[in-house]
Amino acid sequence: MRIVFVSAEVNPYSKVGGLGDVAGALPAELASLGVDITVMTPAYATVDHRKFKLESSPYRFNVNTGSETAECGLSRWQSPQNPNYQIGFIENEFYFGSRGVYTDQNGNYYRDSARRFLLFSKATLEAIRVLNLNPDVIHCNDNHSALIPVYLRAKSHDYPDLQNTRVLLTLHNIGYQGIVEMSARRIYDLPDELFFPAAPLEWFGRINPLKAGIFYADAVSTVSPTHAVEIMKEDSLSAGLKNVLLATGNPVHGIVNGVDYSEWNPANDRYITKPYSIETLQDKFHNKVALMNDIGISPEFVQKLLIGMVSRLVEQKGIPVLIGALERILKMEIAIVILGSGEAEYEQSLRQFAERFPGRFKFDAGYNNPLAHKIIAGSDIFLMPSRYEPCGITQMAALKYGTVPVAHKTGGLADTITQWNGQTGNGFLFDNYSADDLLNSVSDAVVTFHHKKTWRLLQQNGMQADFSWRRSSEQYITLYQKIINS
Ligand code: ADP
Ligand code: GLC
Repeated sequence: MRIVFVSAEVNPYSKVGGLGDVAGALPAELASLGVDITVMTPAYATVDHRKFKLESSPYRFNVNTGSETAECGLSRWQSPQNPNYQIGFIENEFYFGSRGVYTDQNGNYYRDSARRFLLFSKATLEAIRVLNLNPDVIHCNDNHSALIPVYLRAKSHDYPDLQNTRVLLTLHNIGYQGIVEMSARRIYDLPDELFFPAAPLEWFGRINPLKAGIFYADAVSTVSPTHAVEIMKEDSLSAGLKNVLLATGNPVHGIVNGVDYSEWNPANDRYITKPYSIETLQDKFHNKVALMNDIGISPEFVQKLLIGMVSRLVEQKGIPVLIGALERILKMEIAIVILGSGEAEYEQSLRQFAERFPGRFKFDAGYNNPLAHKIIAGSDIFLMPSRYEPCGITQMAALKYGTVPVAHKTGGLADTITQWNGQTGNGFLFDNYSADDLLNSVSDAVVTFHHKKTWRLLQQNGMQADFSWRRSSEQYITLYQKIINS
């Protein structure tokens, strides 16, 4: 089975969030199961040829984006262990080589994002041709590569060799659709009627690449079974695309992500002070003390519950509900550490709490992988009040570290966390997306935390759960097979 996996971000070359985690781990696991897999991604400024041992390839090709033709190159990483696993990096100095993934240094989205990802999508199709990959399935991910099925089907005469190739489009985050103004339409070089009202690319007078991708893909999936049901049922959880999904006449498949245990394992985590496992769970405490010390939480809180959070600071992640509950959470005998960057307004509010509660509320507005590991290892509970969460990776990492998740019961959080009932369960879930419900769950966790034996059982339940990529990969192979045979 030959697969091309297309992603705007790939760990460790260009990770921004969970999509990067998935694109780094899933293809490797698929390759170990015998799938022939090529990942395609842009060569951003962070993709250092020397450090990552990339080979330059002789291929150069021109890609047309309406009024302009961009020359692209291609470099490759070949897995030393597996001849069937490679990554192709699409090169173009102006659009990728001199820039970051989605945003500039100030966190602003690049204004030519539509053209950048259009270029990436069309260049991927060219690279498939020059490398003679002949895939059975092109696995597209999110809006950045959603135009691939559009070109394959709406411009089929340009891609005669790929007419038997199927396309799977996975929705990691349906809230980001790549929408642009109708005035950008000349860059696409697609027939006018595709932009007419109600046509595949048209969306309330604007252009919506994700909508068109859903329309043309052979199959659509998302990253948990619960979220698959949610987006077919509720407009607010599908960011308006519910009817577009239903109109395909096919169900949305739901395959829960895994977590990469070669990176997230307390027994051999190079970033933490004292490695530990389920047998040496008492050693987790050393990591709590070290974390509190590093970030400046007062030692008087060492026996109290420490809440940790690592998240993008955007509405999806439940930051407004968290901020609404914080004043009351801080009335409890607890300390809090939050690592996250995102919207200025949220950063500002969290900074104010940090100023008002020095020594017990710490906020770091950076992107910091070592600190993320330290927080996940050193905290007692891990907070994820997300309004919606297609899957979420950090709660699965937290479970492995005996850090008990407290989360809104939605999407992948509902599929990976089970409510503690005194014996079984591995975390605390609240049903309603509200500050009151969040507060109730935190207070349940605080009470339970002070019953040491019970707490240990709860932690062990989480540490025993297995969210390795193996199971998800097997489900993807079954899905690929199904769409190849369809
Ligand atoms: P999403 O992709 O929606 O942001 P996920 O839970 O799927 O959510 O994945 C987030 C990934 O990004 C995790 O690997 C998490 O550790 C990482 N991450 C998020 N924010 C930060 C940060 N500020 N610093 C370091 N890592 C972060
Ligand atoms: C998205 C989602 C997150 C998911 C990740 C990887 O960023 O917000 O829930 O885990 O993609 O699939």
